[in-house]
Amino acid sequence: MPGNSFGKIFKVTTFGESHGVLIGVVVDGVPAGLPLTEDDINFELKFRRPGALYTSPRIEEDKARIVSGVLNGRTTGAPIAIVVENRDVDTSYYEEIKYTPRPNHADMAYIFRYGFENWDYRGGGRASGRETVARVAAGAIAKKLLMLIGTQVASCVESIGEATIDGDIDFENALKSRLLSTRACRKEYDEKFRVLLELISSEGDSVGAVIRGIVIDVPRGLGEPVFDKVKADLAKAMFSIPGVVGFEIGLGFNAALKRGSEVMDEIVVMNGDIRWKKNIYGGILGGVTTGEPIVFRVAFKPTSSLKKPMRTVDLRTMKEVEIVVRGRHDPCIGIRGAAVVEAMTALVLVDHAMRSGLIPTTKLSQKDIEIISERWERYRRCLLGQGYQ
Ligand SMILES: Cc1cc2nc3c(=O)[nH]c(=O)nc-3n(C[C@H](O)[C@H](O)[C@H](O)COP(=O)(O)O)c2cc1C
Repeated sequence: MPGNSFGKIFKVTTFGESHGVLIGVVVDGVPAGLPLTEDDINFELKFRRPGALYTSPRIEEDKARIVSGVLNGRTTGAPIAIVVENRDVDTSYYEEIKYTPRPNHADMAYIFRYGFENWDYRGGGRASGRETVARVAAGAIAKKLLMLIGTQVASCVESIGEATIDGDIDFENALKSRLLSTRACRKEYDEKFRVLLELISSEGDSVGAVIRGIVIDVPRGLGEPVFDKVKADLAKAMFSIPGVVGFEIGLGFNAALKRGSEVMDEIVVMNGDIRWKKNIYGGILGGVTTGEPIVFRVAFKPTSSLKKPMRTVDLRTMKEVEIVVRGRHDPCIGIRGAAVVEAMTALVLVDHAMRSGLIPTTKLSQKDIEIISERWERYRRCLLGQGYQ
């Protein structure tokens, strides 16, 4: 089975390569009646677009075109196809390194799998971060549909290299990180991250990052034990993002260092409702949502393509050689990865909400449409009102 699709009811298939004509996505399973414009998609795409200060200098406008599934501004229930053109493409450099696979990238692994003669060596092909444009476009639809049940997803950069943000990070911090060039969880850390990124860039190096994901107003009871648990699907979603090397939910790996008595999350009554006092396990128990915010962390490795010399093998001579990557690359892929983390989270949750019957699978009612439209506008205003253009 090929692996280009994700989701059971809200089903997403991405297509296109880094240096192909375009990147696209087909989203099947969206109920009819959802108000949807290209502007909705572009709003989300802006947050992963290259060309910002600390992301890749590849200049792509990333304007989405909806080519099917929407009529008169509303989804029809047919598959929705969205395409984004690749304009700023320069393949010449990749011709040069065709026989010298980049060490930390997918080049050699793809050659093993598909054969050298079939391998799309242009900018990583399907393994390029550019593919994630399609995920963010699909994620915009998922996010909008989630408005029906009030669920919202946000993410931010918690650490870059060893520079870590201390203290609590809440949903508001994560959402507003979109206004900062480094997507820092808190404004005062933006400057710290900038200084670090400038230093790393000037040395031709790259750096890893940890992204915090937070989901609020999560319905209780989402998740399908035992293999389609929400945490299992989130883990798969995150590990499908290129460059991701770690995922943990709640206290994650730190819980393994503790005694049970230290990480005993009490069930309490708050305002007459069942709650968990500390939400130590990140809003999911038994793979099923508890209604507490879902809190998780995703680790991105440092960008593989360095401007420093890297050692590899020339496949023509089978001799070890040194290469220097000239292409255009983010010094820290985690910054743009944050938007992708959000999109993949939204895809998982909308699919589970549909599987649980909380979001209609065929058609939205007029009341549903009004709720979604009102909440979506409020969400956009919240960012626009903060100065986001
Ligand atoms: C948004 C985004 C942008 C990326 N940009 C680059 C890049 O400019 N250069 C690079 O070497 N890798 C980049 N990557 C990571 C590679 O695509 C990834 O390392 C490669 O596919 C190998 O997969 P793996 O790291 O998961 O093993 C990016 C990833 C994402 C999510």
